[in-house]
Amino acid sequence: MSATTQIKRISVPEIAARKGQQPISVLTAYTVSTARLLDPHVDCLLVGDSLGMVVYGLDSTLGVTLEMMIAHGAAVVRGSARACVVVDLPWATYQESPQQAFRNAARVLAETGAQAVKLEGGEEMADTVDFLVRRGIPVMGHVGLTPQAVNALGGYRARGRSDAEQHKILGDARAIAEAGAFSVVVEGVVEPLARQITESIPAVTIGIGASAACDGQVLVSDDMLGLFGGFTPKFVKRYAALGEQIEAAAAAYTADVQARVFPGPEHVFPVKRPG
Ligand code: KIV
Repeated sequence: MSATTQIKRISVPEIAARKGQQPISVLTAYTVSTARLLDPHVDCLLVGDSLGMVVYGLDSTLGVTLEMMIAHGAAVVRGSARACVVVDLPWATYQESPQQAFRNAARVLAETGAQAVKLEGGEEMADTVDFLVRRGIPVMGHVGLTPQAVNALGGYRARGRSDAEQHKILGDARAIAEAGAFSVVVEGVVEPLARQITESIPAVTIGIGASAACDGQVLVSDDMLGLFGGFTPKFVKRYAALGEQIEAAAAAYTADVQARVFPGPEHVFPVKRPG
């Protein structure tokens, strides 16, 4: 691609400027092939640590490593040209100190080419967000249902059903936004809380299971594409049934192989006759 025809990637300031404007579309991506397909259609690609479950079959996100995130983050950047790419900092790579967070976030940006990192947590992470942002690392926060805190929360149930929980999560979102996060993922909270957060912070809110009141939406691609079998959370809308299509394709292939219908003559290299 020549310099003049190069597609310009959507930047962090462009995403931040969408507050109250056209809603922001975000999907997760973990591989080159998915990134290529999604890139023309979304504003952001999130290399979420949900890849621990989706790609690696782990029970939770807690076993995801920085090396996994860097490998998949770099693949998604290579597979995309237009979307703003955000990479999750995995569990225990940023909570210890702002310095630890800076070291690992800097590695993620330098080794993947992504535009921003995402980290989970509220008031307790505000100093870290401030430390990163002041040193040139754009941060997307993540409040409400924070999957890395599954052990402390006791599961993945929706949050903000009581006044006390609402008060806490609103305070978390405000603290992260005041610390300089350009965006905050709001996960698994009741609609009035998502609306209140969106109306009271300057950062763009990206909802997942948090209603259309947010400034944008994110879904795990495998969920919305119907690729990740089993339980589908209430907040997921399925836009395709790719799992069923893959199963049908695999069955048809095996039937062809067993009937010696594949490969056909059109798939076989012809012998070259001299002269
Ligand atoms: O890990 C992830 O994919 C996420 C999104 C679901 C917000 O954090």
